[in-house]
Amino acid sequence: MRKVLLLNGPNLNLLGEREPAIYGTETLERIVQRATEFAQSLGIELHAVQSNHEGTLIDTLHQARTWAEGVILNAGAYTHTSVALRDAICAVGLPTIEVHLSNIHAREPFRRRSLIAPVCVGTISGFGANSYLLAVQAIAWILEQKQV
Ligand code: DQA
Repeated sequence: MRKVLLLNGPNLNLLGEREPAIYGTETLERIVQRATEFAQSLGIELHAVQSNHEGTLIDTLHQARTWAEGVILNAGAYTHTSVALRDAICAVGLPTIEVHLSNIHAREPFRRRSLIAPVCVGTISGFGANSYLLAVQAIAWILEQKQV
């Protein structure tokens, strides 16, 4: 089994009750469960971490370089603000998929800019909770390519 970090940032712990018209009604626990099951079917072991703290997200990324082969990251609002998180993605060097439930390009102008997008392999945004499943598929494909 290949190991992948699924990292969720601030306010995503409130999924299910947080702005359901934008983010849907599924809890993070349920989303993680579905993503984990799908990942397993593709030979991937997902390790999910959520934190509201920028430093913890960075520490978790640093640790991932010792055990993970890839990262799926929903950085929440830090997507739009955090140079430190972007630097951490570069420093760690693991293939990283940026994921968002909402379509960040169809919302407020400040969400259209992602500081992390240029250092990620790609971005999946706008498919609700299913964005996570698409991200699992993407990382599985990337890891397969690396094997060849
Ligand atoms: C989000 C989009 C961000 O702009 C926002 O700050 C979030 C959630 C998403 O998944 O759609 O917290 O990352």
